[in-house]
Amino acid sequence: MEGIIPERLGNLHLVFLHLPIGFVVAAVLLECWRWRRPSTEGAWLQGRLLAANAVASLLAAGAGLVLASNGSYAADALALHRWTGVACAGLAIAAWLAHVRGGPVLARGALGVLFATTVAAGHFGATLTHGAGVTAWWADGATGAGVAQAPAAPVFVKEIQPVLERACIDCHGPEKARGRLRLDSRAAALLGGKSGVPAVVPGKPETSELLRRVKLPRDHDEAMPADEGPGLSAAEIAALERWIAAGAAW
Ligand code: HEC
Repeated sequence: MEGIIPERLGNLHLVFLHLPIGFVVAAVLLECWRWRRPSTEGAWLQGRLLAANAVASLLAAGAGLVLASNGSYAADALALHRWTGVACAGLAIAAWLAHVRGGPVLARGALGVLFATTVAAGHFGATLTHGAGVTAWWADGATGAGVAQAPAAPVFVKEIQPVLERACIDCHGPEKARGRLRLDSRAAALLGGKSGVPAVVPGKPETSELLRRVKLPRDHDEAMPADEGPGLSAAEIAALERWIAAGAAW
């Protein structure tokens, strides 16, 4: 499968993206503290924070661009997130340079702009993964126009999580990860298990291994859940399918 390596690289975005958010918030808090109590230690720590943030932002933006090019997101929502995200990486470097080279006013200004852009990028990113209206243009086979025609996506905590917890988590959770697959976080489900294919491909039920497995006849070797018993109901399978088609918000 040619897409696996970029897909895994892209999925790292979901891990990296939390680092800059944490660093920026920490840097803003530290800046407020230093405003009242200037100290060389504070300035030193701020320099380290901003440098770490610049590196983390570049990693997050790089992985994000790979993830975006895998093409399972709605184009309009993606463009906003992509460009605010790339701007964050540029501003992270600028904020670090302003701290090292510039005066306090420039450094504070740069940090303020970085903070605002981070909030915006985070907001657009959240709309992208959890958001209303980000329904599946790919499911319609059309260009961006066919948005919001599909029935409302199932709400994860109400319709999807209970099914996973009842039928899957005993074997694919914190206790046991059969087939090296865990289904207790979105990142783990996107990553998949020992077969190397993602269990869930947001927006693409037809290539999601999880859905293929639960649809198999109960006597098939690869059918899931792997225990005795009736398997998932047709309604549960349909809900999983619509949930994945709508972007698999967690
Ligand atoms: C009784 C234990 C058990 C239960 C319950 C169970 N599984 Fe599995 N699952 C396994 C085992 C063992 C494997 C590895 C063997 C295989 O690939 O068939 C596996 C593998 C998988 C894989 C392939 C992982 C990979 O990439 O190799 C998927 C996807 C999967 N399970 C989904 C599910 C889903 C969805 C549920 C709940 C509806 C579920 N499983 C419930 C035992 C279980």
